[in-house]
Amino acid sequence: MSEPRQILVTSALPYANGSIHLGHMLEYIQTDMWVRFQKLRGNQCIYVCADDAHGSAIMLRAEKEGITPEQLIANVQAEHSADFADFLVDFDNYHSTHSEENRELSSLIYTRLRDAGHIATRSVTQYFDPEKGMFLADRFIKGTCPKCAAEDQYGDNCEKCGATYAPTELKNPKSAISGATPVLRDSQHFFFKLPDFQAMLQQWTRSGTLQDAVANKLAEWLDSGLQEWDISRDAPYFGFEIPGEPGKYFYVWLDAPIGYMASFKNLCARRPELDFDAFWKEDSTAELYHFIGKDIVNFHALFWPAMLEGAGLRKPTAVNVHGYLTVNGAKMSKSRGTFIKARTYLDHLQPEYLRYYYAAKLGRGVDDLDLNLEDFVQKVNSDLVGKVVNIASRCAGFIHKGNDGVMVAGDAAPELTEAFLAAAPSIAEAYEARDFGRAMREIMALADRANAWIADKAPWSLAKQEGKQEEVQAICAQGVNLFRQLVIYLKPVLPVLAADAEAFLNVAPLTWNDHQSRLENHQLNPFKALMSRIEPAKVEAMIAASKEDLLAAEAKTAPAGNGELAKDPLSAEIEFDTFAAVDLRVALIVKAEAVPGADKLLQLTLDIGDERRNVFSGIKSAYPDPSQLEGRLTMMVANLKPRKMRFGVSEGMVMAAGPGGEEIYLLSPDSGAKPGQRIK
Ligand code: 2FM
Ligand code: ZN
Repeated sequence: MSEPRQILVTSALPYANGSIHLGHMLEYIQTDMWVRFQKLRGNQCIYVCADDAHGSAIMLRAEKEGITPEQLIANVQAEHSADFADFLVDFDNYHSTHSEENRELSSLIYTRLRDAGHIATRSVTQYFDPEKGMFLADRFIKGTCPKCAAEDQYGDNCEKCGATYAPTELKNPKSAISGATPVLRDSQHFFFKLPDFQAMLQQWTRSGTLQDAVANKLAEWLDSGLQEWDISRDAPYFGFEIPGEPGKYFYVWLDAPIGYMASFKNLCARRPELDFDAFWKEDSTAELYHFIGKDIVNFHALFWPAMLEGAGLRKPTAVNVHGYLTVNGAKMSKSRGTFIKARTYLDHLQPEYLRYYYAAKLGRGVDDLDLNLEDFVQKVNSDLVGKVVNIASRCAGFIHKGNDGVMVAGDAAPELTEAFLAAAPSIAEAYEARDFGRAMREIMALADRANAWIADKAPWSLAKQEGKQEEVQAICAQGVNLFRQLVIYLKPVLPVLAADAEAFLNVAPLTWNDHQSRLENHQLNPFKALMSRIEPAKVEAMIAASKEDLLAAEAKTAPAGNGELAKDPLSAEIEFDTFAAVDLRVALIVKAEAVPGADKLLQLTLDIGDERRNVFSGIKSAYPDPSQLEGRLTMMVANLKPRKMRFGVSEGMVMAAGPGGEEIYLLSPDSGAKPGQRIK
């Protein structure tokens, strides 16, 4: 046996200001399957991750919600951790980039780079919001496109005509944060001298660390010459202050990858057998793998190895890049209900269905993966329920009925036994190479052979015949042994199915090498259904709930009257006329009831004096007993365009405050106000 390998694995750190969706899960699920495979093989494999907690977007969102950035990132981290755990993603550690370990490591790496002469400083002229007192990143500046004159375009590109430009070229620029006209201002910035590492990167990117397509893409950048990278931001910024440079902060992308190290360091404090330096020193023999999406390749395959090299640390063994997720052949869409949050999926379906589907469709390349929902139902039902679980459910009953649950000894199908054994190296190779699709195809081909053999032997017919009991037992024991091998091969993908199968098989947790042995004269536990079929209605309900998520989010951010602002939560000032156009009324809640089939909505009947209105509102989480609202006065926007929803037409919107969830507070007028009165 060769020595166990020491392997450290990461997935990209999700931003701490949004929910995890099925696109994110493509990455975490594939990384988790690879890590579980390594552990099953007996390697020491450590999987770390963290929330990416810094940057101005997080600072501004916290401000908008009226909480501190620390509160925001704690809330989001709790949500992310629960989503990952429920998708069976088993991190050894989940940390935050806003941590002491990360502060120390970021300082260490920066000072090493600085002392080695890899940091430059120079003045940069940028737009500054005089009202908010901050420099504006391109996405926080809006104005008129210099090419096509489309209004309300971002500072770096036009969504209408596709032009890219500098923010200073934008006509009539406005701060998207305060609405103020930005002014140009100079400030000292810090740059990482990436060109110092050109030769190293040219070699490193071609040394088997990257898929060919990725290395080719990088060669284009490398050949056209590397630029110095701006790694500083001015206060106010949520991040780490640069050592010795008051008021200057590390740009979020500087300390984000260092967050991988910080999460591992945090784990080392709890796990004394792990030696931090042994994993990170320049000549480490441990392996280091990063799993990422194709949009962040430059950060991981140029900046990051250069930073590590410059700081005298080891570089990644490989960066594994994957494509994007599409749903039903198109980009995930909120209005089509295919922008599916992890939690929404979990509310309706088992995590292992998706894990298997992703595994079946994942290859080594950077192609996008399509989650076709019809194919998803069909494939999971046919492969997992129809093929794999079917083997055990066909055989277990006869063993319990005919032999008190004891599997007899003997090999009833030596050819199959041999084929199942012989397949292991190739399946392992496919897992190792992240060619999960090939691994699944080979496993299902074995399952097909096992099913065909059982069908041919037809133990159910033999069981009805005199004197065939021994044969029935031999066939069924063989069937269960083949099932056990399939479970071992599928264990990285389906850990819960594997645990339930181990309980039925009455065995200790299976490891990869167990595929070489078989169960003989072995007592089984009673068989319980291991997996149920996906009901298409559940998929439909998930899509409907995803549409509802969108409406609830809109209800939270949509301001009165001006549809333009709904697109941009960082609202700009409006003219008085726009405000005056909003028909705000006192409304009496006559009836309030839950909407069958909707998780978040209440249906309200509102009396506004001369008429009654039907309004759907995403406030159910705060008012689980809707009847408590009946008889209460609130305020509504009465001239909002009616909106057709799955449940009916919504004729306006009620007004509420609060961050969401249980904390939604309907606004009420003082006593004395009458239904229908206009709010001035
Ligand atoms: O693109 C993103 O979502 C980033 N938050 C990924 C960071 S990965 C790492 F470098 F921290
Ligand atoms: Zn344009």
